[in-house]
Amino acid sequence: MYNNKSLYKVRVWDLPTRLFHWALVVCVIGQAITGTIGGNAMLWHFRLGYTVLTLLLFRIIWGLVGGRWSRFRTFIYTPQSVINYLKGQGKPEHSVGHSPIGAGSVFAMLGFLLMQAGSGLFSDDEIAFAGPLTRFVSNATVSLSTSYHKNIGKWMVLALVLLHLLAIIFYLRRKNKLVGAMLHGDKELVIAAPPSRDDTVSRMAALLILAACAVVVYWVSSLAAPAF
Ligand code: HEM
Ligand code: HEM
Repeated sequence: MYNNKSLYKVRVWDLPTRLFHWALVVCVIGQAITGTIGGNAMLWHFRLGYTVLTLLLFRIIWGLVGGRWSRFRTFIYTPQSVINYLKGQGKPEHSVGHSPIGAGSVFAMLGFLLMQAGSGLFSDDEIAFAGPLTRFVSNATVSLSTSYHKNIGKWMVLALVLLHLLAIIFYLRRKNKLVGAMLHGDKELVIAAPPSRDDTVSRMAALLILAACAVVVYWVSSLAAPAF
């Protein structure tokens, strides 16, 4: 849609992507808190962990079949585009979905979150809580996984989230309405970009995909050794 300020209002983030993002924010904050408290809070650490895994699986599939600007192929950039963008020679299309720099941080966050949740499945606090897949691997693998989860992955996730927040604050100060777009879905652009599909059918499809991901993660969680 074209408005009188010579800007095009375009649906960039479909509802499933927005819900994914804000649910992920809540769960990851919850994960950091419950993991740090330990003890009985670990029960919630596991529940939230399975939710994060479901969300990440969903996002991977949505990156293949979701709305146009949520698809990975719209934000996989060549090294040259990244260099040009850094030199201030970005193209107008770069402001539609994730920019070349934003894309790097999105892939890094998704990758490290996946490794964090994945390593959690093989981690053991040696008190009362063990990930559901610990019993299928050797003690050495469990130690390695737990050590990664506690000493490396946790800090990587924290660092990437801090970087993400600093970038958002930087863009906010330059009056770039990135946060609004992640809330209501729309961006006002200087070019007429095609919108992301975001109708009832695509939202229902997202719900089905999410349900299928939840079933897979539930199955993984059910592989845990029965508690005596
Ligand atoms: C993105 C998801 C996750 C984040 C951000 C996260 C974060 C954390 C943090 C901060 C700790 C405390 C580490 C410490 O004591 O210094 C922890 C411990 C732990 N997490 Fe996670 N976690 C995630 C997912 C999972 C999942 C999916 C599982 C298992 C299903 C899991 C199982 C564990 C276990 C067993 C511990 C205790 C390790 C120990 O104290 O020896 N985590 N996690
Ligand atoms: C634990 C905290 C957070 C995590 C793990 C996180 C993670 C992510 C991820 C994975 C994306 C990519 C979205 C996608 O394409 O699926 C993203 C994008 C985004 N996030 Fe966050 N986020 C966090 C906190 C926040 C907060 C607090 C805000 C705002 C106040 C925010 C604002 C945004 C915005 C505006 C984008 C879109 C950036 C762009 O246009 O390229 N995030 N975030």
